[in-house]
Amino acid sequence: MTRFIAVTSGKGGIGKSNFVLNVAVSLAAMDSKVLILDADLGLANLDVLLGVRPHRTLEDVVLGRASLNDIIIRTEYRVGLIPGSSGTQDMADLGREQIGNLVAAVKDATEQTDFLLIDTSSGISTGVVSFLMAVPEVVVGVSDEPTSLTDAYALIKVLKRNGYEGRISMFASQVKNSTSGHALYKKISSATQRFLDIQVEFLGSVYADEKLPKAVTDQVPAVVRYPTSDIARCYRVVALTLLGQKSVGADAEKLWSRLVSMIMKEGRPRVMRAVSFNGEAPAKSMEKTFQDILDEQRKTRILLERVLSALEHTAPEGRVRKGYSA
Ligand SMILES: Nc1ncnc2c1ncn2[C@@H]1O[C@H](COP(=O)(O)OP(=O)(O)O)[C@@H](O)[C@H]1O
Ligand SMILES: [Mg+2]
Repeated sequence: MTRFIAVTSGKGGIGKSNFVLNVAVSLAAMDSKVLILDADLGLANLDVLLGVRPHRTLEDVVLGRASLNDIIIRTEYRVGLIPGSSGTQDMADLGREQIGNLVAAVKDATEQTDFLLIDTSSGISTGVVSFLMAVPEVVVGVSDEPTSLTDAYALIKVLKRNGYEGRISMFASQVKNSTSGHALYKKISSATQRFLDIQVEFLGSVYADEKLPKAVTDQVPAVVRYPTSDIARCYRVVALTLLGQKSVGADAEKLWSRLVSMIMKEGRPRVMRAVSFNGEAPAKSMEKTFQDILDEQRKTRILLERVLSALEHTAPEGRVRKGYSA
């Protein structure tokens, strides 16, 4: 069974793409069959980290110009890269049949895959959230900055609000050591447990390490370029933790059709269409939904800042001062 895992974060530049790449390479080194999908539609990402240049993307598959196997770039690290699409081509008029074809094509090609790690754009947007709702496992990257924490919390809250039932995990990014990573996890998990009744799992810490930017410059995954470094060990621990988890089943059809929708929406920002998170009745306009999320994020940020400061003054038995609701 393939495990579909989307990696996201409240804000960009926290180390998400490097996480996807290095965890994938580590999993492959442990004999898993791994594909990574670049669905961060803003910027070229995984391809740059790998030093490859995709000529065809998922868009070609959607438009019937290529099969999934045609576009997968097989790297020397035993990880296959599925290049996303910047959504430049007009794909808004795709029929059900075309989406069905894509779903069938990718289903076949991913049958033998153990892990499909998906690098998504940062931040909360309707397309991304709607896609995440269809992914059974969402991993949120969090760094120790107030905005990263609050944005991660807001993202988890939006998922919960929309009825997300899959697994939510986090990794601590660019932290000094595992103690600070755990402290970060504690902050997020106490808040989500208390206010959202959500159990967030911990995948581990990725230390801040100057070797990482060097590996990025060399366009070689850090776990390959510096296999004995602290950061390589961090990524391998995450891979092991993933291997130790029970897998969560996916509705592959829903997942791939939402992915196509995300490509369409994110890639064509000027087209405002009525959407709702669960993809059913179009309740609000995209602008309205988006505004709601931004409002939500702002409100949550203020509340979470209070929660965090309350947590810092938590009594030893672990109780937080009453009176807040996030
Ligand atoms: N653990 C880390 N230690 C040091 N620098 C890091 C680390 N993670 C990320 N960076 C820096 O941040 C940059 C962006 O990383 P990237 O993985 O592309 O982030 P994202 O995908 O979240 O935007 C890297 O090129 C690197 O310079
Ligand atoms: Mg990225």
